[in-house]
Amino acid sequence: MTTTGHGALGAAAALPLENSTAAAAPSTPHRRRQGSATQHIVTAKPFLMLAGELHTSSASGVAYIKRLWPHLKELGLNTVLAPVSWELIEPREGDFDFTLVDTMVRQARRHDQRLVLLWFGSWKNGVSSYAPGWVLRDTARFPRAKGSSNQNTKNILSTLSTANREADALAFARLMRHLKQVDGKEHTVVMIQVQNEVGIKPEPRDLSPAADAAFAAPVPEPLLQYLTRRRDALHPELRRRWEQAGSKASGTWSEVFGSGPEAAEIFSAWHYARYIDRVAEAGKAEYDLPMYVNAWLAGPQLSSYPSGGPVAHMHDVWRAAAPHIDLLAPDIYASDFKGITAEYTRGGNPLFIPEASSDAAAAARVYWAIGAHNGMSFAPFGIESLPADHPLADSYALLRQLLPRIAEAQGTGRMIGIYRQTDEEAPSPVSIGSYQAHISYPERLPEGHPPVGGLILQENDDTFLVAGYGFEVRFSAATPGPRNTNILSVELGHFDDVGRWVHELRLNGDETGANYKARIPPFLPNRFLGVNRPMILRVRVYRHD
Ligand code: DGJ
Repeated sequence: MTTTGHGALGAAAALPLENSTAAAAPSTPHRRRQGSATQHIVTAKPFLMLAGELHTSSASGVAYIKRLWPHLKELGLNTVLAPVSWELIEPREGDFDFTLVDTMVRQARRHDQRLVLLWFGSWKNGVSSYAPGWVLRDTARFPRAKGSSNQNTKNILSTLSTANREADALAFARLMRHLKQVDGKEHTVVMIQVQNEVGIKPEPRDLSPAADAAFAAPVPEPLLQYLTRRRDALHPELRRRWEQAGSKASGTWSEVFGSGPEAAEIFSAWHYARYIDRVAEAGKAEYDLPMYVNAWLAGPQLSSYPSGGPVAHMHDVWRAAAPHIDLLAPDIYASDFKGITAEYTRGGNPLFIPEASSDAAAAARVYWAIGAHNGMSFAPFGIESLPADHPLADSYALLRQLLPRIAEAQGTGRMIGIYRQTDEEAPSPVSIGSYQAHISYPERLPEGHPPVGGLILQENDDTFLVAGYGFEVRFSAATPGPRNTNILSVELGHFDDVGRWVHELRLNGDETGANYKARIPPFLPNRFLGVNRPMILRVRVYRHD
């Protein structure tokens, strides 16, 4: 198992990150534990990505790349997720061209942004559309997966081919070598995604003769050992598949996981993960940046999503197979944002959201990702399409002010996230430090209001920062002592560029229900306060008998 500061998802790992001290170069971006949270460290400080992912072709032309930045800045981003495609960096075998990568890095630096680069290598969205022509044309040397209709050749490079894997690994390693040369000191690039939404569809596995033979062979020992060692912690669905087939400690894929397509999904996950692990390993040997794999999320049936990707119920298989992958990431376009973020933090997987839908609710979902799950990144897809007045820009502007305080609170139980998902009821009281926060939602909000969500941070014993939009909160003490907790003061304000609190208004009376609760927005007219935006309150409480 790898226990470097980039702590990979090791086969033996109880958590993806167990040791933060043995990092390579200390200045290279890496991960560090703080309490129950995993932080992404860039130039020695926790770095939280208020991000967006570019459209898939945006990083393929110098002029287009150069035009992006003023708008990205306007939206309040500090990080951009941008593709690097195999076909463009290695158009002829062994002939590398990093012009586009260099342009991205230089432009990002000039505009005060960090980058997460997405390696579109063997697969993107399940297919091999970003592999170079010299790979795609030569199906004898670079074999494809076969499908069910007359063994048709699919536009998917086979996971079972060493030639495929090594050609991809070599190109990726060259990319990482180049990044180390041009960025090994500045660290504009802070993380790497390896491939994009992998898996095979609609068949649950490759049906080529090579894959048939592998499917009829014994399940690899490391996977079986992982299942046995971690039985109680396995994802319930994986455990069900294994136990229903008799919890065997050896056998072919169908013997160990049953005769249905579910066994084929596990087989596919193992082979995608092993292949990608080798690619990541080759890249890390050149430049050891944290790396992740993103998932096209599971749908109702196996045929509706690519089989073999890191969907939640395949995480254990990926952990067992891919020790060089630091975390598994969800692309969240489905409505149950809360359910998905919970699934992707199971077993200590740090939450990193490389893609999310860009509707208005993104402006509230970001609070949930950060506040409820210590999320490292939130990134709506197609970011340059968002208008400058998208409510996400206000959320990012508010979060930027709070970043140092969020970093301090991560993993300490002094931060909570709020997001009202599809008009749900208010949550039960939530613990924050030695208090409970009682959150409620106002019955009416002004026309055109931002989506409901926010953060509460405990600054010190009796002071909280309440930030966001569309909720009310009061506090009660959860420790022995005076029985009543009341509000002493509520200030509306903001943090300036150097992190000093700037007082705007003291809220009391009607605006707090006579110091009963903090309320955003307060009862003051939009016209004078501009209340249709998220805001920050500093709330002081006291206890008495
Ligand atoms: C998910 C993919 O990962 C992205 O690259 C992009 O194709 C989006 N879907 C489009 O919605």
